[in-house]
Amino acid sequence: MSLNMYQVFFALAVLLLVYKFFEGKSKSLNRPPIVHISHEALFRYPRQAYETALKEHGPVIGVYRKNRLEYITDESLASEVLTNDALFSAERGTAAILNMPILNMLPHSFIGSLDKLINKSVIPFMETLVPKLAPVFEKHMFELAAQAEASKSDAGVPVELAHHVHDAMAESMLMLIIGEKNPSPEFVRAAIKVAFDVAIVAGIYQNLGYWSRTFPSTWRAFIWIKLMIFTIPWTFRNIAWRVWKDLQVVRKTGKSDHLDPVCLVSRLIQDTGSLRLKDRLWIVCLTLGITFASIHQTSAVIIWVVYELGVRRENLPLLRQELVDILETDPVSGKPTLTYSSLRNAERLDSFIREVLRMKGDTLTIFRLTTKDVPLGGYIIPKNTLITPMATLLHENTDLHGEDAKKFIGDRWMGSGKTSASISTGYWPFGLGRFACPGRQLAIAEIKLMIFALIARADLSMEGNKYTVIDPLNTTAVPPRGQLLLTRLDKHIF
Ligand code: HEM
Repeated sequence: MSLNMYQVFFALAVLLLVYKFFEGKSKSLNRPPIVHISHEALFRYPRQAYETALKEHGPVIGVYRKNRLEYITDESLASEVLTNDALFSAERGTAAILNMPILNMLPHSFIGSLDKLINKSVIPFMETLVPKLAPVFEKHMFELAAQAEASKSDAGVPVELAHHVHDAMAESMLMLIIGEKNPSPEFVRAAIKVAFDVAIVAGIYQNLGYWSRTFPSTWRAFIWIKLMIFTIPWTFRNIAWRVWKDLQVVRKTGKSDHLDPVCLVSRLIQDTGSLRLKDRLWIVCLTLGITFASIHQTSAVIIWVVYELGVRRENLPLLRQELVDILETDPVSGKPTLTYSSLRNAERLDSFIREVLRMKGDTLTIFRLTTKDVPLGGYIIPKNTLITPMATLLHENTDLHGEDAKKFIGDRWMGSGKTSASISTGYWPFGLGRFACPGRQLAIAEIKLMIFALIARADLSMEGNKYTVIDPLNTTAVPPRGQLLLTRLDKHIF
């Protein structure tokens, strides 16, 4: 019996289908288990929920969150996931988790450009930057302390910390980014609002709202269009216009004397060379990116550190003593001052900050996107999926940090050589690997400037001796809520 062409074709098609079926079967059999965790557990008790699921099904599990499948690993796979950028892309992971996959479609790497800019134009200049930024933080914290001084009462005066922190961060970053020494209130409000709106698009507050939690995909699409296309360009228009005009002057005259030579826009101009339309647009977009990256997270962490100090007041006397010890004298004015080297000598405050960052309960923080089907922990993680290690399993790991790993010890890191900005597998609030946060030294310097300026002139405590974590699934970017109380100090330290 001879087979005709159609029969051969049909037989081949059946064989191919059978092959594909078994291939798919063997692949899906080899996928990590998908664990169902209820909405309630995910958003209210994420740490307990993920840790229990990993204990039962680990070392890597899939969990649906906000309509998206994410793979979560335990501590044994963390280093591989966070540092092997060939298999787990940091750039694409960050873009995906920030709801900005559009960043991956640009002709240049947006995140890579920001990373390069900070590493090249901020970090090497910290010595000169700190004295420029310090007065901004001092002004705002001294204003807060003055409210306590104005009160006759010995009971603490309730103050608006978040408002002052945001203003100080926005003012200092506008100075750094566009070289504006005394930014107008409109510029400051715009920088704060833009940072906040980008945070909304990035889903940073998504866990908190009913609609955004219940209809995550629809919410993402709606908010993306609303904010990215309308609100953010409108809010950012004044700052963008100012940068645009500066670029136009340089392009027309070839001179940049009107710009602060150390501001980031100046540095970008030097690096870019010619300022064609696409270069100018790129610089404006980078200005927006850096505004968000520099203001939002640092403000949140400053609030964390202040509140932790408020409930751990026993640390304050020694921190004040440290401030007295590290203050330097300004050679021109003869006044006591904080320099970058004095901040680096502030080992006790550094240790306290590191302990706050380690212990604030980060759960899912740093995401990577698989660049291909990746074998991991005995399974195959499919290409293009989000994956992250569970942070608490490393930050509070007894093998890495000792038997008392779960205990907050303010001076734990003194003399250890481990600073709040030095990252490792056991400590990665700033990420890990090639794409770890490039702004971390700056962020830590800013936090120290702010804390020292505050405790130099006021005593602090928290109403009810407590604060509330409002988003346990995102402690990194959403600060806790509480009422800070300030009491006047008998003597200013500076
Ligand atoms: C306490 C404050 C801050 C925290 C907790 C923080 C944390 C992080 C984390 C976790 C990442 C992702 C790293 C990774 O994927 O491995 C990151 C990236 C980044 N951060 Fe920060 N950051 C802070 C402040 C800053 C500041 C002040 C700047 C700028 C001056 C900055 C600029 C950036 C940039 C440009 C990126 C993306 C580029 C990259 O991933 O290399 N950050 N940050």
